[in-house]
Amino acid sequence: MAQLAINGGNKACEHTWPTWPIWDDLERKALNDVLESGNWWYGEKVRQFEQAFADFQGAKFGVTACNGTVALEVALLGLGIGAGDEVIVPPYSFVATASAVLRVNAIPIFADIHPETLCIDPVDVEAKITDKTKAVMPVHALGYVADMDALGELAEKHKLFIIEDACHSWGSQWKSKGTGALGNCGVFSFQHSKNITSAEGGIILTDDEDLADRCRSYTNCGRGKGKSWYEHYLLGSNLRLTEFQAAILLGQLTRLEDQTLKRQSNAAILNEALQGLPGIAVPADEPRMTRRSYHRYVFRVKPDELGVPPERFIEALAAEGVPAGPGYPIPLYKNPLFQKSGEGPAFCPTSCPYYGRKIDYTTVCCPVCEAVCCDTVWLSHTMLLADERAIRDVASAIKKVCENAGELR
Ligand SMILES: Cc1ncc(COP(=O)(O)O)c(C=O)c1O
Repeated sequence: MAQLAINGGNKACEHTWPTWPIWDDLERKALNDVLESGNWWYGEKVRQFEQAFADFQGAKFGVTACNGTVALEVALLGLGIGAGDEVIVPPYSFVATASAVLRVNAIPIFADIHPETLCIDPVDVEAKITDKTKAVMPVHALGYVADMDALGELAEKHKLFIIEDACHSWGSQWKSKGTGALGNCGVFSFQHSKNITSAEGGIILTDDEDLADRCRSYTNCGRGKGKSWYEHYLLGSNLRLTEFQAAILLGQLTRLEDQTLKRQSNAAILNEALQGLPGIAVPADEPRMTRRSYHRYVFRVKPDELGVPPERFIEALAAEGVPAGPGYPIPLYKNPLFQKSGEGPAFCPTSCPYYGRKIDYTTVCCPVCEAVCCDTVWLSHTMLLADERAIRDVASAIKKVCENAGELR
């Protein structure tokens, strides 16, 4: 039996990992061109990127915003969702998924996730639908695509909008169609940690021209399409992107396809190596998900079988040379923002005069999400760009920690 590196043994993995972001003379020249042109403000490059990204995901229209958080708010506003409306969201996500709903004075209702996909479970979505439900906001968590067939059927049956939180799924596809182009609209983030980045940035994609126009207006001070500059029609804000950001994104977009394929092929190596490994469960790929962005590679550690908690497993993995993290530590509804409703600053569930119902987030429980938050390990999308040899060593390191878990007890 090999001794674990955490106990003084040799490391299983001696690689340096690719750094992020990845850029070269393409971005350098593009930035310089914008600089020297003097056209720094929301212009041709922004439009070019909007169309290029919409084309990449298979949507008709793209409207950029300064980040994914406000892009979600704009999508909700654009669909007319507001005070007293309920929007069903998953609790396994970044806070913006739920806070965007609150910011438009609507009510986030949490539906549990599916243990295999880590995305919202359509069965629980249906159980949470009421006469106030206006939309469902699936998150394509970590690049996995939510069950869009089942959600589409529910949306049709109950007359709901679907807003995809596609902030992890650049390049992911469901039955060969890109995420963000599957519901009424979809929102992406280009924040620094994301698989395509301009440090900050976001976009709303849709096939609906009127919705795109409303979103444009909300992001551009409420201006009207083709209307005069100092006329304002909607209560918008200034959420515009700059030409510098668009120039970088155009460069980044040229790499996205190859990087996504590379991440997929490295993930397939890990899947094969970890298959059937006692103590580890890898969520299975869904055949209708024809491409997966792999914002993270995810597996679950079963403490009952290994006898060690995931935090200890992660420490041992780090010592073997494989940096990993535990991911979202708690479901969104367990955040103080929700648990203290009524005590802290007023927000819609306690203050919305149009709701006519009371909601107490301290009683919400999504058991699958609660378990996933306690036993999941994330590997970064950057690691998945390493060469095949390094990925095989990652698999060996995971196996080594599992097989020698007794040393950690
Ligand atoms: C699932 C999800 N939704 C929304 C956002 C918000 O995006 P941004 O950071 O660009 O505001 C993020 C960012 O991490 C996210 O992970």
